[in-house]
Amino acid sequence: MKGIILAGGKGTRLYPLTKVTNKHLLPVGTEPMIFNPIRKMVEAGVTQVLIVTSTEHMGDIVNQLGSGKQFGCEFTYRVQEDARGIAHALLLGETFAAGERLLVILGDNIMTGTLVPHVEAFRQQPCGARVLLKKVGDPERFGVAAIDETQVVQIEEKPQKPKSDYAVIGYYMYDHKVFDIIRGISPSERGELEITSVNNRYIELGEFEYGILEGDWTDAGTFESWQYANQMMLGLK
Ligand code: G1P
Repeated sequence: MKGIILAGGKGTRLYPLTKVTNKHLLPVGTEPMIFNPIRKMVEAGVTQVLIVTSTEHMGDIVNQLGSGKQFGCEFTYRVQEDARGIAHALLLGETFAAGERLLVILGDNIMTGTLVPHVEAFRQQPCGARVLLKKVGDPERFGVAAIDETQVVQIEEKPQKPKSDYAVIGYYMYDHKVFDIIRGISPSERGELEITSVNNRYIELGEFEYGILEGDWTDAGTFESWQYANQMMLGLK
C-alpha cells in the first residue's frame, strides 16, 4: 500500500494566515500541521508517500519535509497547478500509485488515535474502498454518511439537513479502481471534483466499508477548528 497526503488548496478560510504560507505548515501543537498525518501514515506501515501541494508553496513544503528520513518514510512530490477539488488532486497520484492500494489523508486532519486497525482491516478487504467515520457536533461542515443498520447507504457533501451525526473524515483507503472512478465523476455545484462523489460510486458498486475512528479528531481548516486542533495537541482538551 502507498500513501498520498493532499496539502494543496488555497486555505481561504484561514486568510490572512495563509497569504504567504501553506495552511499545512501552520503550527498545530508544537509541530507543523502536516506532521500529524505523516506520523499516522507511517505508524500504519505506509512509508512510500506522495505529497501533493500547490506550485507556490512547493518550495516551503520540500524545505520543511525533506526526503522523509526524519519520519521513517520516503517522499515523492507533485504539484497541483489549480485547486479543483480533492478528487482532482488525487488524480495526480495515478503514476505514483502504479496499481497499488492507497491510503489517502487530507493534510489538515489531526487525530490523537491510530490508523493501524483500519489499515489492517483494509489489507484484509478483497477490494473497494474503506473510510473512517466520526460523530461530530457540526455535521453540515463535512461529508455526512446516511447509515442503515450495517452499511453506509449514501454520503452527502455539506448537507443543510444532515441525515446523521457521522462525518466521513479525511482518511480514505482505495483500491486501484479509484482513478477510473474519478475520471467518471462530474464537478459539483462548487465546481470541484468531490471525494464524496468518488465514495458514492464505491457505495453503488457495493464495495464500500467503514470504521469508526477512536480518540479525538478534528480538521484544522477554519479558525475555530485550527484552535481546537492546537488545544488537542497541546493536551489542553
Ligand atoms: C473535505 C471533504 C469532506 C470531509 C472533510 C474532512 O471538506 O470534502 O467530505 O468530511 O474534508 O476534513 P473540506 O476540506 O471542503 O472542508
